[in-house]
Amino acid sequence: MDKQNRKAIIAGNWKMNKTATEAAALIDELIPAVKDATCEVVICVPFTDLTTAVAKCKGTNIHVGAENVHFEKSGAFTGEISADMLVDLGVEYVVIGHSERRQYFAETDKTVNKRSRAALAAGLKPIICVGESLTQREQGVTEELVRMQTKIALNGVTAEELKNVVIAYEPIWAIGTGKTATAEQAQEVCAAIRKVVGELYGEEAAKGLTVQYGGSMNPKNAEELLSKPDVDGGLIGGASLKAEQFAVIVDAATKG
Ligand code: PGA
Repeated sequence: MDKQNRKAIIAGNWKMNKTATEAAALIDELIPAVKDATCEVVICVPFTDLTTAVAKCKGTNIHVGAENVHFEKSGAFTGEISADMLVDLGVEYVVIGHSERRQYFAETDKTVNKRSRAALAAGLKPIICVGESLTQREQGVTEELVRMQTKIALNGVTAEELKNVVIAYEPIWAIGTGKTATAEQAQEVCAAIRKVVGELYGEEAAKGLTVQYGGSMNPKNAEELLSKPDVDGGLIGGASLKAEQFAVIVDAATKG
């Protein structure tokens, strides 16, 4: 089956949580809890936690990601962080275009594309987030919207670079709300994402792409969501802040 040939990735998105001191404590709990995972385990943490996370995770199976990156290489962009800065710290992944960044920090499909390209050029693996609002779902435009977000995000990304891309389907109405998409809804949209990537890069490339689901994934619903053929992993917010909950989800990916 195609799914078995793809990399399953469970990634925590800590958002604006955990001081560096608290991060160290959480990682100490996570290391033994996920050490036997057969999926890839990633924690995406605030910029101020990256140095601690990289140092703590060295020699373990936990990979470290940032939660955003600027698209310029350097210059007069007060408060921003470049891809080279992240790479130099030992960071491997970066979340791009999370709906909270689109909603509160005016990110657009265009800036998502620029950030994705900058990340890939520097050797980072972007986790590109796409997903619809409740109104858009009710209007029946989910698939068109997600196709468009995916296409624009990948504009100018080469087939070689695509191998480092992860796409996360995150319906906005399911993020932090406790309302999860049904496994069927998650499957349907993850499959649509794979289809559009197939149209752009060919079937083989699409078969190799890791597509995650995110939005209130938790220890109770993870197994069912992750059992779907086009759901290759999860981007986990709230449940990634508790080692035991995150570990259950990692286990579910290992089975799925
Ligand atoms: P949640 O967040 O798991 O808390 O819903 C997911 C995300 O925003 O990536």
